[in-house]
Amino acid sequence: MKNIVILISGRGSNMQAIVEAALPGVRVAAVISNRPEAEGLAWAAARGIAVEALDHKRYPDRAAFDAALAERIDRYAPDLVALAGFMRILTPAFTARYQGRMLNIHPSLLPAFPGLHTHAQAIAMGCKVAGCTVHFVTAELDHGPIVAQGVVEVRDDDTPETLAARVLTLEHQLYPEAVRRFAAGELQIADGKVRSGTVKTGSMLAPAPRNID
Ligand code: GRF
Repeated sequence: MKNIVILISGRGSNMQAIVEAALPGVRVAAVISNRPEAEGLAWAAARGIAVEALDHKRYPDRAAFDAALAERIDRYAPDLVALAGFMRILTPAFTARYQGRMLNIHPSLLPAFPGLHTHAQAIAMGCKVAGCTVHFVTAELDHGPIVAQGVVEVRDDDTPETLAARVLTLEHQLYPEAVRRFAAGELQIADGKVRSGTVKTGSMLAPAPRNID
């Protein structure tokens, strides 16, 4: 059984998708938030999952918060740490500690549009496709070996909100699948790349959804 700890900051819909996928061999050991009021905490607690809130505002600096967070995470001896809408920039010490065993989901087709406001940027640039990326976490923000990407069409009448909603639906398919593959030992990194990735496409795109294995 692989233990995973999921870090959230808010709604936690990706966390919910991972929990609800009930992946064989995967146990969600804890959900931890840096915001005590994160909606996802109540959802997880109601399902009997251990939840923790570590308010980053109570720590003097980023290093102190990250050290406390790591100490809390490690109590659950996780095989994998999954960032799911965890809105914190992480220190290099923290990312090094979980190197090769920490994943993130980002709502763009990385390396395009790291950071915030990804959907608005994709629309402003006239991108014809947008999507989401699951990647291993490195010290560089929204960077690191790509595990899986999901692609949707950008429509002429899209707003950041409509595009975000369509991408989010794909995120909820992609992240559990990436976690499943990690837990199954299928994700090997060589030369900074994951050797076989997963691609999913939204329903508006041809060809039909496919996986590359
Ligand atoms: C998602 O779009 C995720 O890609 C990004 O933040 C959002 C979190 O949503 N990192 P949720 O908290 O999982 O609902």
